Order: sequence, then C-alpha cells, then structure tokens
Amino acid sequence: MADRQPEPLISEERIQTRVGELAAQIDRDYADARDLLLVGVLRGAFIFLADLSRRLSVPHAVDFIALSSYDSASTDPSGAVRLIMDLRFNIAGRHVLVVEDIVDSGYTLSYLLHTFAAREPASLKACALVRKLDRARVEVPLDYLGFDIPDVWVVGYGLDWNDRYRTLPYIGVVEP
Ligand code: IMP
Ligand code: MG
Repeated sequence: MADRQPEPLISEERIQTRVGELAAQIDRDYADARDLLLVGVLRGAFIFLADLSRRLSVPHAVDFIALSSYDSASTDPSGAVRLIMDLRFNIAGRHVLVVEDIVDSGYTLSYLLHTFAAREPASLKACALVRKLDRARVEVPLDYLGFDIPDVWVVGYGLDWNDRYRTLPYIGVVEP
C-alpha cells in the first residue's frame, strides 16, 4: 500500500540532539536521587522513552502505564481519560518522572499527575517530547520539554495517526 509521506517538521537529527540535552538535564537534576522511576505512557511514548532512558547515566527503572486515547478524528476531546493498564511498581517514596509523547489539551498528563500524586511519591515531574502551543485546556506543569509545535497532527517517533507512522525516525505532519 502506497503511503503519502508526512511533511517533515522536526528532523531525526534535531530530535536526537534534543533527547541528549534532556537526558543531560535529567542527569543533573536527579544526580542525588535514589530510586528514579521513568514512567512511559503507552503507546506513543515508547520510542522517546527508549532513547531517553539509554541516554541517561543516572540509575533508573522503567515502568509503563496505558491510557485510553480519544478518537483521532475528534477535534473536541471530552477530557475523559481512562486507565487501561496500571503500573507494576508501587511508587510511594520513589522519584517519578512521567514521560509523555505529546501534550495537546493537557487532560492526559493532568489526569496522570493527579493520580500519581495521590500515591505519595518522593517527587513527581513530567517530561514531554512535544507540546502543541495554544491548545491547553488545563494547565499542566512540564518540567522537561523537547519542542513546542503549532496545532497540527504530527506522526512519527512513536506518534501515530490511526496507528500508522509510529516508526518514522522524524516527526512529520499529516493532513487527514
Ligand atoms: P491530551 O490529553 O489532549 O493532552 O492528549 C494527549 C494525547 O493525545 C497524546 O498522548 C497522544 O496520544 C494524543 N495526541 C494528541 N495530539 C497528537 C498528535 O498530533 N499526534 C499523535 N497523537 C496525538
Ligand atoms: Mg500519548
């Protein structure tokens, strides 16, 4: 099946450079922290998390969580987020860094941060590769951010459109 190639927005090289910078920043910030846990949000964050994790020098464990995502055709997500798969680890007393692919309305990350905060981690921060400007419906504190982008649907580097394009090495724009 012939696919129309997404229009490049962020090159593979820029992504890799930025991931290295984020890892260096996280290494500095968590230099004294025992028990760092990276929590990847499935499925979109799996490639970002794999690269980020391998660029970190600070010892850490990795866990995953899966959430329902709203219909990609919908322009008005209800804000209803559902937990499909919870963490394996108990995060009480641990340093938790949530790793998300993209922040759009902010509902997903906001839900996660509230859910995790109730479990009393030693600290709780958030890292996103991409954030869409001017789309926030809820304010979410982002401690680490790769790139701000305009309000377009992006794919690649883990991000999908109807489950396609996740394995592109760059981030590109599709116009469905
Ligand atoms: P939020 O809850 O509106 O912030 O949406 C975040 C989730 O929607 C992300 O974790 C993605 O799974 C998905 N999403 C939002 N925008 C895009 C996009 O442009 N491409 C791919 N997935 C997206
Ligand atoms: Mg996601």
